[in-house]
Amino acid sequence: MTYLETAAQFYSEVAQTPQVGLCCVQSTPLQLPGLKIPLLMQEMNYGCGTTVHPTELGNQPTVLYVGVGGGLEALQFAYFSRHASAVVAVEPVGAMREAATRNLEIAAQENPWFDTSFVEICEGDAFNLPVADASVDIVAQNCLFNIFEPEDLTRALKEAYRVLKPGGRLQMSDPIATRPIPVHLQQDERLRAMCLSGALTYQEYTERIINAGFGQIEIRARRPYRLLDSQTYNLEENLLLESLDSVSFKVAIPEDGACIFTGKTAIYAGSEPFFDDSAGHLLQLGIPAAVCDKTAAKLAAIKPLEIIVTNSTWHYSGGGCC
Ligand SMILES: C[S@@+](CC[C@H](N)C(=O)[O-])C[C@H]1O[C@@H](n2cnc3c(N)ncnc32)[C@H](O)[C@@H]1O
Repeated sequence: MTYLETAAQFYSEVAQTPQVGLCCVQSTPLQLPGLKIPLLMQEMNYGCGTTVHPTELGNQPTVLYVGVGGGLEALQFAYFSRHASAVVAVEPVGAMREAATRNLEIAAQENPWFDTSFVEICEGDAFNLPVADASVDIVAQNCLFNIFEPEDLTRALKEAYRVLKPGGRLQMSDPIATRPIPVHLQQDERLRAMCLSGALTYQEYTERIINAGFGQIEIRARRPYRLLDSQTYNLEENLLLESLDSVSFKVAIPEDGACIFTGKTAIYAGSEPFFDDSAGHLLQLGIPAAVCDKTAAKLAAIKPLEIIVTNSTWHYSGGGCC
């Protein structure tokens, strides 16, 4: 069996017998006015964060959702795009497609606004998405790409890039590792399927997104997710996994490198009313301006005594001067 087949078998099991604690997180699933999430669907919440960012879902975007699970996020996306096939959900595991179909039928009974036609569940996988080039506004995946070995992750990212319209968004939530995961755990296929041992470091993860062609990444959240304790996992030291919610844009990579927004700001504290770096960044005296990490480093290097760069908040949702 390949590790992908092991993962498929694992998800077939947890589709038939939901494991409530499998990917449990402290935060409750996103609640929205008039949205009732069926209990069975909640029990099959196998995501480690959220890919649904309510303030950014105006104009009924089309969504390609990879790895449908119990259908929770497909339903949440459909809340914002209420028309037939607004959300195309791709899933290779038959039992999971059946579970999601059943859960969405229950959702239709409990939510007068929802029609099951809004979510089209298709057989397929992350490496061959069943839609044309440049045809969707959003590709989303939650807690799936971390399962992939690095070369497969790159294939999946490139496939997402292919189907996105120019300017389209890849919305992801995945575990990341605070230091490289030792090989003996990486090779444990069941742990990998459980989203516990395939995670890359933040640096590697973001590099692979950029290498697939995405010119801008915005970090929406970064929080502790799981501890791989030294005894259970045969490690020299405990290893913390975090979950990272991100949105990556299909825009050209600037000549000086991609922009990654992590919530940093730059504040001009000099003797003039403002500072203009002649490269598109205008800082008003004393007023924080959101900047990407690349620009933050450049500005701090130009005027180390007059420009203060604040720490990453790991929460960024727009604005700024890049
Ligand atoms: C960790 S679960 C996440 C489910 C869902 N996104 C959620 O948040 O609840 C991973 C999902 O991806 C599916 N999956 C496994 N291998 C896949 C592949 N190669 N391509 C697409 N989906 C896959 C699994 O069957 C499962 O439904």
